[in-house]
Amino acid sequence: MPSSISLMLLPLFTVLLSSASLSAAALYHSIDDEFYQCVNLHTDLSIPSSGAFHTPDNASFASVLESTAMNLRCLAPSRPKPELIFTPLTESHVQAAVICAKELNILLRVRSGGHDYEGVSYTSATKSPFMMIDLAKLRSINISMEENSAWVQVGATIGEVYYRISQKSRTRGFPAGLCTSLGIGGHITGGAYGPMMRKYGLGADNVVDARIVDATGRILDRASMGEDLFWAIRGGGGGSFGILLAWKLKLVPVPATVTVFTVPRTLEQGATKLLYRWQQVADTLDEDLFIRVLISAANSTGQKGKKTIQTAYQALFLGRADRLLKVMKKGFPELGLTQKDCLEMSWIESVLYIAGYPGTIKPEFLLQGKPLSDKTYFKAKSDFAKEPIPEYAMEGIWKMFLQEDSPFSIWNAYGGMMGKISESATPFPHRKGRKFMIQWLTSWQSGDKKTTNKHIGWIRKLYDSVAPYVSKFPREAYVNYRDLDLGVDKFNGKTSYLKASVWGSQYFKDNFKRLVQVKTKVDPDNFFSHEQSIPTLHSFSEGDEKKMIN
Ligand SMILES: Cc1cc2nc3c(=O)[nH]c(=O)nc-3n(C[C@H](O)[C@H](O)[C@H](O)COP(=O)(O)OP(=O)(O)OC[C@H]3O[C@@H](n4cnc5c(N)ncnc54)[C@H](O)[C@@H]3O)c2cc1C
Ligand SMILES: *[C@@H]1O[C@H](CO)[C@@H](O)[C@H](O)[C@H]1NC(C)=O
Ligand SMILES: *[C@@H]1O[C@H](CO)[C@@H](O)[C@H](O)[C@H]1NC(C)=O
Ligand SMILES: *[C@@H]1O[C@H](CO)[C@@H](O)[C@H](O)[C@H]1NC(C)=O
Repeated sequence: MPSSISLMLLPLFTVLLSSASLSAAALYHSIDDEFYQCVNLHTDLSIPSSGAFHTPDNASFASVLESTAMNLRCLAPSRPKPELIFTPLTESHVQAAVICAKELNILLRVRSGGHDYEGVSYTSATKSPFMMIDLAKLRSINISMEENSAWVQVGATIGEVYYRISQKSRTRGFPAGLCTSLGIGGHITGGAYGPMMRKYGLGADNVVDARIVDATGRILDRASMGEDLFWAIRGGGGGSFGILLAWKLKLVPVPATVTVFTVPRTLEQGATKLLYRWQQVADTLDEDLFIRVLISAANSTGQKGKKTIQTAYQALFLGRADRLLKVMKKGFPELGLTQKDCLEMSWIESVLYIAGYPGTIKPEFLLQGKPLSDKTYFKAKSDFAKEPIPEYAMEGIWKMFLQEDSPFSIWNAYGGMMGKISESATPFPHRKGRKFMIQWLTSWQSGDKKTTNKHIGWIRKLYDSVAPYVSKFPREAYVNYRDLDLGVDKFNGKTSYLKASVWGSQYFKDNFKRLVQVKTKVDPDNFFSHEQSIPTLHSFSEGDEKKMIN
């Protein structure tokens, strides 16, 4: 049977036969061959000789798949792997990939930096065959000092972007994430917060243009995509509206010298009381100051064999140490910050410091686009606090932390610019009235089911137990900290609007409705989809549709 026919029948086969009884090799080859011929037909370059296709029987397959995949949990053998990885070398390859995948009815996954918490950019929770487009080779960065902006291709890491900006000027920066290996492609689609958010807002708030391949294979920029779609891609989450090719970022001013500090406090040193105070003041401090608190379990220095809770106050201040000391004395004297705690440096050096690099690492390291530490298996969740969490509740959290191997939480101060941007300006709705944003995280070192279940069980229990102290109705969550526990779109089937709006409103509040409307307009066939992509109106039952329109 010609391979084109076998490909067309693929969905049927998958239904009729269990995937195990299919000849895996035959399946790979049919997708591979058809797609490959189609892509060549649609581009003028000879792709085969470029090493841009990787099938599971290529020696390169595993290393390409694993290259940027951050969460080992999502690489487990039980997780479906792509039938084919395509690494486009030009924008027209991406267009051809969309046209061909659509024509051949192949499910796509799109990856820029691979940091998705649930791995939806490179794996699938369903058994459906799928292929992955890996944009890691599209990573050019062009900075214009005249325009005070940068065009950045999506495969570049945020660390490369920071470095290139710093090479042009010591007094320009960009306000996005702290972890330097994040892909700018996925990162901005969810918002992108970092240590300058109190001054300048999110990365997504500082995007002025974009280039995207839509579901028909056209390349659109801000003018041709229109303001609805341009709104949706700046916070509505990745993988729903098209394939971003590049972002145009507005650079922001930074002082030639900034100041950083990290001040640790354990329970024995009064950590709980101090953290209660921080919760009261963190969102009211000078906008030049960002303080986050890193919370972990540690060995007690006093008693051997005893564990304690470590809280570390880590800060970036957009100014010199003498002014920082004044700001701290006025707003948060309880931390007892001294000149000795303060380190003055350039903004790019502060990027490395906040990301946790040892002082011996030079900024050039960022060009490697690599993560700082070894990969782990992890599961995370997010929350937003509108009121300080009382001391007794924190004590309960510490008790749970002491039962877990590597518990971790980061509390990020809000306020400043975050409170000045309206909830509907972008799809990211977590703005005014939030005191801080929380990430809960646990990580482990082995992929067996028992270990995995134990740690996932722990974080789910923790999440339930803190519910009374964080935002409610809806309990807000950050889409870039994707959590499939919140709900999953039923694949290739009907999803009820009510069901999708459970997680939809947690991530986007009322903006979810507008996201669904934009999605329905630009991708009515739901070509760009994953477990938590924005659904179209058509994927709902008629009753739901009426409910939504009313
Ligand atoms: C260690 C670590 C640290 C982090 N630190 C921060 C932080 O400081 N601040 C913060 O805000 N977030 C942070 N995050 C979360 C991060 O912003 C998200 O995971 C983000 O989605 C990563 O983007 P990516 O391109 O690396 O991921 P990917 O896994 O490649 O993609 C993420 C999502 O976007 C989609 N996508 C990717 N590329 C494109 C594209 N070109 N067009 C359309 N859709 C696309 C994917 O399909 C997927 O749905 C962190 C994550 C990790 C793992
Ligand atoms: C993958 O395997 C195919 C067929 O064996 C070969 O033609 C192709 O060059 C290989 N690709 C890479 C990147 O090694
Ligand atoms: C940067 O400029 C080069 C040369 O003009 C161009 O080929 C590339 O596409 C540009 N990159 C972006 C992200 O605009
Ligand atoms: C704590 O102590 C134990 C045993 O003494 C050791 O194995 C572990 O690595 C220590 N943990 C930290 C975070 O230092």
